[in-house]
Amino acid sequence: MSKEKKYLTTASGAPVGDNQNSITAGHRGPTLIQDVHLLEKLAHFNRERVPERVVHAKGAGAHGYFEVTNDVSKYTKADFLSEVGKKTPMFIRFSTVAGELGSADTVRDPRGFAVKFYTEEGNYDLVGNNTPVFFIRDAIKFPDFIHTQKRNPRTHRKDADATWDFWSLSPESLHQITILHSERGIPATLRHMNGYGSHTFKWVNADGSAVWVKYHFKTDQGVKNLDPNLADKLAGENPDYHMADLYNAIEDGDYPTWTLKVQVMPVEDANTYNIDPFDVTKVWPHEDYPLIEVGKMVLDRNPENYFAEVEQAAFSPGHFVPGIEASPDKMLQGRLFAYSDAHRYRIGANHEALPINRAKSEVNNYQRDGYMRFDGNGGGSVNYEPNSVDGPKETPENNITPFEVSGFADSVAYDSEDHFSQPGNLFRNVMSDEERAHTIQNFADHLSGVTREEIKLRQISLFYKVDPELGTGVAEKLGLSVPETAK
Ligand code: HEM
Repeated sequence: MSKEKKYLTTASGAPVGDNQNSITAGHRGPTLIQDVHLLEKLAHFNRERVPERVVHAKGAGAHGYFEVTNDVSKYTKADFLSEVGKKTPMFIRFSTVAGELGSADTVRDPRGFAVKFYTEEGNYDLVGNNTPVFFIRDAIKFPDFIHTQKRNPRTHRKDADATWDFWSLSPESLHQITILHSERGIPATLRHMNGYGSHTFKWVNADGSAVWVKYHFKTDQGVKNLDPNLADKLAGENPDYHMADLYNAIEDGDYPTWTLKVQVMPVEDANTYNIDPFDVTKVWPHEDYPLIEVGKMVLDRNPENYFAEVEQAAFSPGHFVPGIEASPDKMLQGRLFAYSDAHRYRIGANHEALPINRAKSEVNNYQRDGYMRFDGNGGGSVNYEPNSVDGPKETPENNITPFEVSGFADSVAYDSEDHFSQPGNLFRNVMSDEERAHTIQNFADHLSGVTREEIKLRQISLFYKVDPELGTGVAEKLGLSVPETAK
């Protein structure tokens, strides 16, 4: 057998004699169970799929690096942000939220913006969206919300009644749905949209002092959006339009970049600021907390293998590094559990050891065994702690910063029920006349799929509270009037 050319083998490495004809009993005879190569081939094929992500199933990934361009060490001791010029390899996955793995790219939906920084102190994941806010503000509502975005259990079709029933009964969604039905609801490409961490996070410096931060990735390509009619056409003609655009740009050496900026809030302000900084349905006005530059993200390499890198990528908001910590945001708190739990189900208990997820720094702990333990499993090293044989030791300086908590344990709602001022400001003061008209049209188009009039009227009443022009405009397009109770 020639060693020069690669020869085909079974998974266990034995050379395969024939990969085109099954072993049969005679010319026409039934296939023999003895054809173990055939059995293996069919059996492995049956196991090719892992469950798709329960949300954000369709996505595109890219490798790149992050370079610090401004000194933020007075705010955080995070090593990867410690000095200007420091570069950290990273991987990003962009996604739509509601569709399945094969769904169209150019739909009206938030876009996921999940970044994994392979720092020298372990992986830091920032799992955000292209919107600075979210639909709801307590994790306990997330499964219900997503059920309304997915298929109806009976018809297995998207269900506008469910979507708007939920939104019209969850007024905290108004800010996010106003962004979603604005021009930004369908980005022109993945390169032409911003990314946001959305939640508030805690940064801690070397002295142990903390601040609250919000992350903004500003696209250096400029924000560009798609006309909804063109988006519909593209969804039919080229459902992978956004994936192709990103892949081709990187293949052509036209590397997309984003500038990372943060808003920084002194911790004391959280008690007095007129906006609850842990309410993910709100933004912090830039005049109160201006953007501070941090660095640049450059995407310069396409994945070599989609399944290995993009499908097996596991981003978790719980992946922090020293100097970056959680905030009490009730959505973020739920997410700290949800992602790694999803990864254990989707790709297994040892998913952190997969090449795309493996930290580039040393990983030392006492976890052992489990399905698909394909590294050395710690070899003969000690697998318990405390031990007196020099096993890896905890580092108290990397403890989280202590923080005070008070009050009664209870199911507590957020203080503010003002769901109207921020979307109202966006609609009145940020959008142009044309953008306002398009937003009204986009809302009306989506709501026209609702069959129950009471849902439409409930939503119109909420729109009227956001801005009378919005409520009246949508009502008119639907052939309805704003209910008197809303005025
Ligand atoms: C994906 C849960 C809120 C952004 C996912 C996944 C789950 C999940 C289970 C699939 C993970 C996987 O299989 O790899 C939740 C829960 C939330 C929540 C329980 C609220 C409590 C949010 C928010 C954002 C967000 C507020 C953005 C600000 C993303 C992104 C992905 C994702 C970008 C895709 C990550 C990737 O590309 O692999 N979410 N999510 N999610 N979620 Fe959330």
